[in-house]
Amino acid sequence: MLILGIETSCDETAASVVADGRTVLSSVVASQTAIHHPYGGVVPELASRKHLEAIRYVTETALHQADVSKKQLDGVAVTQGPGLIGALLVGFCFGRAFAFALNIPWIGVSHLDGHINSVFLEPQPPPFPFVALLASGGHTSIYYVSDYLKTELMGQTRDDAAGEAFDKVAKMLGLGYPGGGIIGKYAQQGDPYKIAFPRPYLDKNSSDFSFSGLKTAVNRYIQSHKAIDEQHIADIAAGFQEAVADVLAYKIINAAKQKACRHIAIVGGVAANRRLREKVALDASKENFDVYIPSLKLCGDNAAMIAATGWHYLKAGKVSSPDADVYSRLRI
Ligand code: KG4
Ligand code: ZN
Repeated sequence: MLILGIETSCDETAASVVADGRTVLSSVVASQTAIHHPYGGVVPELASRKHLEAIRYVTETALHQADVSKKQLDGVAVTQGPGLIGALLVGFCFGRAFAFALNIPWIGVSHLDGHINSVFLEPQPPPFPFVALLASGGHTSIYYVSDYLKTELMGQTRDDAAGEAFDKVAKMLGLGYPGGGIIGKYAQQGDPYKIAFPRPYLDKNSSDFSFSGLKTAVNRYIQSHKAIDEQHIADIAAGFQEAVADVLAYKIINAAKQKACRHIAIVGGVAANRRLREKVALDASKENFDVYIPSLKLCGDNAAMIAATGWHYLKAGKVSSPDADVYSRLRI
C-alpha cells in the first residue's frame, strides 16, 4: 500500500511516499529556516505563505522521486495538528483536495503520533513496549508506547519545550533561529562545566519537565556579563546544553525503570542533539537498556513519519471525514 504523506505544521513543507508504513520511497523537505532566521523564531504568516508556494512542487517531487504516479496511491495522510493553524491549513486542504480528486482515503494524522512512529522507519525499530521521549520545538513529553497507536502519556513539560528553550537561548545570544543546531555547534567549542546552570528535575520521580527557570537563569547570566566574546558564548551554549541533556537523559531512563521496560526511544527535533544522543546511550548502557534514536533526517519534521503513521490509522479505520478541521493544541 502506498501512502502520500504531507506535513506543514510549522516551518517545513514536506511530502513523502511510504510503502506499507515501513519503506520510505521518497522524503522531500523544503525548509523555511532561512526566512525565519532574522526574526529569531517562526513568523506564522510568513510560514503559511511559504507553504502555499512550496506545497505543489514538493508533492510532485516526492511522487517523482518515488517513481509513483498519483493513480497508484492508496491514501493521503496529512498532519492535522498540533501546529500553527495557518500553516496546517495549507497542507490539510491541499491533501484533502488531492485525495478527493483521486477518490482515495484522506487521513488526518497527529504530528506527535508521527514523531513517535518515526523510529519504525529505521532498519532496527524498537520492540513493544518502549518508553519514548518526544522533544521538539513545541513539545517535551514521555510516553509509554505499547503499540503503534497506543501511547500513554507519562509526563510533559509544564512550561517551555526543550527545543523552545534552545531557540530562546540562541536568540538571547544573538545566534538566530533555529537555535538547536547553532547551540550544538557552539557547544562543541565550549566547556560544559565552566558555568553551572540549574538542572530542573522537579520531583525526581515525576516525568514532567520545566525549562523556563533554566532559560531565565541563562538570561540572567547573559545580562550580568556584558562583554561576551565567542569563547564565552561557546561556554554558555555548552553549559546550557549539558543541563538540558542531563535532565532529559535522567527522566527518560527513570521512566523506563518505572515501567520495568528495557527499550528507550528518543524522537523529535531535539533528538538530533549530539550530546543528548551520547548521554542517553552512555547512561542507558550502564543500566542495560537499549536506545533507539532515528537518523537525523527523521528527527526533525518530515512527511515520511506522517505517511507511515497514516498507514496505521488507515488499517485501524481512522479515516477523516470531509468536514474535519485542523487543531493547534494537543487533543486530550
Ligand atoms: O520536531 P521539530 O523539527 O519541530 C517541531 O515539531 O517542533 O523540532 C524543532 C526543534 C527546534 O526547537 C530546534 O531548535 C530543535 O528542534 N533542534 C535541536 C537540534 N536540532 C533541532 N535542538 C537541540 N539540538 C539540535 N541539534
Ligand atoms: Zn515536529
